[in-house]
Amino acid sequence: MTDTNYRPGLEGVVAAETALSQVDGQNGRLVIAGYQLEDLAAQASFEEVCFLLWHGTLPGQSELEEFRTSMAEFRVLPSATHSLLEQAAHHKVSPMDALRMAAATFDLDLGEGQEIDELTRAKAITARIPPAVATYWRYLQGLEAIGPRQDLGRSANYLYMLTGLEPGPATVRALETYLNTVADHGLNASTFAARVIIATESDMVSAVTGAIGALKGPLHGGAPGPALDMVFEIGEAERAEQYIRSKLDRGERLMGFGHRVYKVRDPRADVLAAAAEAMFSTEGDMHLYELAKEVESTVLALLEESKPGRNLKTNVEFFTALLLHGIGLEIPLFTPTFAAGRVAGWIGHCLEQQRTARLIRPDSRYVGPTDLAWVPIEQRP
Ligand code: COA
Repeated sequence: MTDTNYRPGLEGVVAAETALSQVDGQNGRLVIAGYQLEDLAAQASFEEVCFLLWHGTLPGQSELEEFRTSMAEFRVLPSATHSLLEQAAHHKVSPMDALRMAAATFDLDLGEGQEIDELTRAKAITARIPPAVATYWRYLQGLEAIGPRQDLGRSANYLYMLTGLEPGPATVRALETYLNTVADHGLNASTFAARVIIATESDMVSAVTGAIGALKGPLHGGAPGPALDMVFEIGEAERAEQYIRSKLDRGERLMGFGHRVYKVRDPRADVLAAAAEAMFSTEGDMHLYELAKEVESTVLALLEESKPGRNLKTNVEFFTALLLHGIGLEIPLFTPTFAAGRVAGWIGHCLEQQRTARLIRPDSRYVGPTDLAWVPIEQRP
């Protein structure tokens, strides 16, 4: 029996209504809770974006202050989380695995036997991802953990906990813009995972832990690393054309280009390119930025030549790699840093899903046999 409703990978299936983000792949537009990404990402603080995604409106000044302070109070990790991260470093697990383990402990010290309200959990989870990543990274390098600072913003505190140094304002702005840019993106795999979990009336820590597991996979949170490797391997702008041509001749894909949904330029690439330019021109290696721009324009020209009419454009990964590298993050930190931004959307979607109070439970089509005869164990070969 053929079931015409069957869509492998749920492609094209609308499984939720959301007021959080609109991904318009044909026109290359991304709207975040009513605002164009270009207007929001480079101006808002990450806490403002969280407030917007969780409450549906931008906060007023005192609301924002209160929201920020109450979130910052959760930056201290439970002591059990520290012990867990130390053990994980002993086993040298990947930063994403360490984050997944740590996330499951984020509400350990919250309730003390009392019911915890979901917004408190949401703030604790969001506040604790960067400290957990930074703490783990230091343990992995055999270094002492650095405690959080309440006087710094979320992004500045993350970089401070990683390095012990207070970052400059352009670096902080660049990271904040990145986190805002990736805060939400429709019903992507990790967000869907979070919604499925919360829809069973489970809790937000479970939903975010599951989402981190989904984000870890290379088909999602993936590896912007190879895009950066390509720029490094090219090294000098004059070598770009020959290098890229030979990759294309070998039938290889160029990392950081092409997108399943965006058939024009990914709007996030533009926002991140502008953020990278602003940062590199004040606090970074402008040579690297200029080289990356040369590589980008050569790739775009050669993709149009070798795959005419396919509209293969720059995607979010290309400038993510450049920006996060410029901020000083090493490649294994890229995906956990993505989680530090996407958590705003995961939680927004959890709150939205809780309001619909509808279990997510699709059907499957059975394709196995139905008429096998039971064989007792002693008669099996
Ligand atoms: N470099 C070279 N060729 C590419 C390409 C790339 N980055 N992306 C797509 N193509 C080619 C494909 O080989 C295919 O050519 P063919 O039909 O002659 O075989 C054609 O363009 C269409 O590709 P298709 O596989 O249908 O695109 P898709 O929508 O399934 O894939 C991606 C989208 C993202 C998987 C794909 O563009 C890709 O692999 N990009 C590189 C990896 C990357 O940057 N991932 C991060 C995405 S945010």
